[in-house]
Amino acid sequence: MYFSVKSGSPEKQRSTCVIVGIFEKRRLSDVAEQFDKISEGYIRNLLRRGELEGKIGHNLLLYNVPNLLYERLLLIGCGKESELDERKYKLVINETINALKNTGVMKAICFLTELTVKGRNTYWKVRIAVETVEDSIYTFDHLKSKKIAILRPLRKIVFYLSTRSKLTDGELAIKHGIAISAGIKSAKDLANMPPNICNSAYLASKASKLAADSSYGKNITTRVIGEKTMKDLGMNAYLAVGQGSAKESLMSVIEYKGHDNNNDYNKKTARPIVLVGKGLTFDSGGISIKPSENMNEMKYDMCGAATVYGVMRVALILKLPLNIIGIIAGCENMVDGRSFRPGDIITTFSGQTVEVLNTDAEGRLVLCDTLTYVEQFDPAIVIDVATLTGACIIALGHHLTGLMSNNKKLSHELNVAAKQAGDLIWNLPLEDEFQEQLKSHFADMTNVGGRDGGAITAGCFLSRFTSKYHWAHLDIAGTAWNFGKTNGATGRPVALLSQFLLNRSGLIS
Ligand code: BES
Ligand code: MN
Ligand code: ZN
Repeated sequence: MYFSVKSGSPEKQRSTCVIVGIFEKRRLSDVAEQFDKISEGYIRNLLRRGELEGKIGHNLLLYNVPNLLYERLLLIGCGKESELDERKYKLVINETINALKNTGVMKAICFLTELTVKGRNTYWKVRIAVETVEDSIYTFDHLKSKKIAILRPLRKIVFYLSTRSKLTDGELAIKHGIAISAGIKSAKDLANMPPNICNSAYLASKASKLAADSSYGKNITTRVIGEKTMKDLGMNAYLAVGQGSAKESLMSVIEYKGHDNNNDYNKKTARPIVLVGKGLTFDSGGISIKPSENMNEMKYDMCGAATVYGVMRVALILKLPLNIIGIIAGCENMVDGRSFRPGDIITTFSGQTVEVLNTDAEGRLVLCDTLTYVEQFDPAIVIDVATLTGACIIALGHHLTGLMSNNKKLSHELNVAAKQAGDLIWNLPLEDEFQEQLKSHFADMTNVGGRDGGAITAGCFLSRFTSKYHWAHLDIAGTAWNFGKTNGATGRPVALLSQFLLNRSGLIS
């Protein structure tokens, strides 16, 4: 999609479709009012006849409105004017795109960025509009033998801004929105790939290609760490999970050194921000095997890795002035004669021992060694992203990502970024009370803490490997993909982490 911003008199191209908002009950937005005047009351007349109430998403596509220079006018319901918040704004944009699908409209001028969204400025409204449009037109047909071609697809959207002074913010918003959307799309594409194609080697090749892509410049390198090195280092927990798989466990380390200037965070020598992604390309549960129903969805158990990949792309596209290390912890949890077993006791890379009581609690085993591995970078902060527990879905449903952290300032920053990005999270407590549930008779800890508070005990397990730095854990089990029929990766939380990095880079006011 091609996006731009414009102020002044909208260009007079007949082929264009104009998009304006209508509020409940039959209240015209300022721009709708103007078009109503031009058309000598045509719009008001239609509303009076009850053609459109203004309910959110309801819409009316009009042709040849009297005196209007454009061929088409889309009236889109925005709900009650005083209640237009971030969520509803996104809903309106999404419904607008749905309404234009298969209409043949190829170019649109959108006036919705002029609506008032409580507490949000032009930058936010334009950027979120770009991201919402890109999200709503996403399809994954790489593996279909016949692709469905849309005859006259929507190609261009111009966001209309009322004053010239808003243009700079609007342009920055488009630049950022396009980059974040590209990151989200990369994450979705990677996550949607089937597990017979997308294995650890596939993830590693994706990570390596980032560094090989010359358009991103020279300050990026990718290193891939295989089983031999893991063994030498003593990453036995990570290795145990992958030992039943025919595919080698591979951990990719993507190191990006952003340009320096005078910002605190972004000197070339500055301590890096480390992002760690759980990359189970398939999680069968291992010997503690999962029920077969919907097991196919465990191809998405690498969504944390896909997120890290997507966020690294955003950082590269925007040349963020930060030092960031992205780690993709690739692995496969399978059932085999060589698989690790319930009862096994493993000495982790940290030296702490773990009694495996359930081989399906594998994510924390892969992550704990990775979290020890990153100590060598002397990180400013470490954020891990993982489809870690079904319990997190029970706690927060499919709407919010679970956040656990050992640092108040970091969790505050993430909460602010989540609200800005519309990629919501919720804090879960990491109190010592929960640590009790990990007691083992035979080792330093078990790898499961029972059903109760399962998302938190998983976080507690990880916290035992992160005492050397400021750390946050994002459990995306409920938010990384759409479950059941609407199946498909969401690309979350790429938007949240991109926002977090943008805030730290000082590129937005
Ligand atoms: N990848 C799963 C968690 C998961 C399950 C994410 C369903 C999304 C949907 C993870 O490896 C797992 O199996 N966790 C177990 C932990 C339990 C054995 C303590 C779980 O949540 O059941
Ligand atoms: Mn599992
Ligand atoms: Zn898993």
